[in-house]
Amino acid sequence: MKTQFSLALAAFALLGAGCSKKNADLIPDKNNGGITLPEKFGAVVVVDTLGGGRHMAINANGDIYLHLSRLTRDGKAIVALRDSTGDGHADIIKGFSDVTGTGIELHNGYLYYSDATHIYRSKMADGQLLPDEARETMVTMVEGGGHLARTLTFDNKGGMYVNIGSLSNCCEMALRMPHTPGDDPCKELETRAGIWKFDDNTPGQQQELKYRYATGIRNAVAIAWNFSAGKLYGLQHGRDDLHRFWPEFYSEDQNTELPSEIFFEASQGDDMGWPYVYYDHLQKKKFLNPEYGGDGKKTDRTEKAKDPLLGFPGHWAPNDLIFYTGNLFPEKYKNGAFAAFHGSWNRLGHDQQGFKVVFIPMKDGKPSGDYEVFADGFVGPQPITNPSDAFFRPCGLAEGPDGSLYIADSQHGRIWRILYYPDGITKTNDRPLYQPEVRKEKEEVPDELQAGRMVYNTYCAPCHQRDGKGAQGMNPPLVGVKMVTGNKADLINIILKGYNKPDKINGESYQNVMPPHAWLSDQQIADVLTYIRKSWGNKADGLKPDDVANARKKANL
Ligand code: HEC
Repeated sequence: MKTQFSLALAAFALLGAGCSKKNADLIPDKNNGGITLPEKFGAVVVVDTLGGGRHMAINANGDIYLHLSRLTRDGKAIVALRDSTGDGHADIIKGFSDVTGTGIELHNGYLYYSDATHIYRSKMADGQLLPDEARETMVTMVEGGGHLARTLTFDNKGGMYVNIGSLSNCCEMALRMPHTPGDDPCKELETRAGIWKFDDNTPGQQQELKYRYATGIRNAVAIAWNFSAGKLYGLQHGRDDLHRFWPEFYSEDQNTELPSEIFFEASQGDDMGWPYVYYDHLQKKKFLNPEYGGDGKKTDRTEKAKDPLLGFPGHWAPNDLIFYTGNLFPEKYKNGAFAAFHGSWNRLGHDQQGFKVVFIPMKDGKPSGDYEVFADGFVGPQPITNPSDAFFRPCGLAEGPDGSLYIADSQHGRIWRILYYPDGITKTNDRPLYQPEVRKEKEEVPDELQAGRMVYNTYCAPCHQRDGKGAQGMNPPLVGVKMVTGNKADLINIILKGYNKPDKINGESYQNVMPPHAWLSDQQIADVLTYIRKSWGNKADGLKPDDVANARKKANL
């Protein structure tokens, strides 16, 4: 997110400037530390394998603050990094705070950071790497599950904007169940699925409807104030499961591409349309969601929703946005937008996509052309079906005081600093960096498991993934968990009745719910459970359709 300058810190940066080297002296890592970039751009790996990195803020002296998705071994959630020698590599690394979350910004001499229900700030002191341990609670937000990233941005006129994502997928009456009508009007919108505007300098604020700035925004993890346009922009994570919930209206292929992840500008009072409508970037049109009577063609209720500026393919998961204000990159990048896509999990077993940083050229507050891929190759050498197999996943973006672009990875916590070399790159640094491993070749599936595999890939893989490894934070793995290989009756009951277990599975909690699948036949359930009990290294005995029939009778289903 955007670098913020305080006068005192700017003065410190000037004092410190004598010891820092010119950008052109920084030697990019070989192969840009695992990513591809346009010609004449090079990347220096600032830090490697910190653990899962989320968003980032950079101070006027170049110090970096990275919010982590897990605590470090000594219980810290934010890592502060300093490059004291000027070679581009962080050599002083310190931990701060136990507030895990994702939003982080430097503003008016404070570090602001969030968890799922609070915005906090801690005071920065001149020259000190770490802020004061003491923190003020700026905002307390409504509790609840679902999308928990409370990212934030400032307009430097007293406004602090916070993304408060939706609880549900599409405001459906029964969470994440097939064929469930939407709540109409969607009451969730009073507390969720919008951007709220708070005062940037008043501690103790509560989330109230009167502070809602814009609505109908399912989850805009990527938000940023654009100072050249004087407006707020964001990218939305679109809804999931058009095919799995509404197979009569949407094919698997449509589910894979739709709906679009939109890039939008939001002014006070704007409504981007969720949950009633979605945007289709292929037809460049908005449509009514099936939860509200849509059938893939109807356009009712679409006129009330503001048009997006651009549509990206479905499920790419935009996680950060910055507007480039520096002078290091060529002129065309000035005031344009960089967006980081974290990559998909919900493409029904097709190769996962996204995992890149794109550039959107901007003029007068609007895109002046189509987006172009800026940084790519994060996934590694081969296509992947599970996002956890990606070598890296770009999540946070920030601009350094010299105009470098920083990208933070959520798989291992690598941070790249991207520089521009107008005369081309003559030398690279071949030092040992962490090398992720290519996943193993696909397992051969024996004939007697083929039927179960078909059921699994259609109805279970969208959540648990083809390789049974699950999707981090969303859906648990089915490999190496007791429930799968243990008692058969318990297992059948999970499939028949669904499952919403508040406690953790192997120490992790999962946002999604396991929907009931009682509508599958006894044969299908026996097949799919046999398949998961005998696949991916699981070794347990199979099930018979009679086992399912008996469980169904007992459960009165
Ligand atoms: C919408 C996503 C989704 C779909 C589709 C789905 N599951 Fe699940 N499943 C989950 C989630 C989420 C949980 C964990 C629920 C919780 O912790 O509250 C879960 C839990 C489970 C568990 C228990 C795991 C444990 O260790 O407790 C099993 C077994 C399971 N699912 C099997 C299946 C099978 C088989 C299918 C297909 C017939 C399927 N699931 C379809 C999301 C899904």
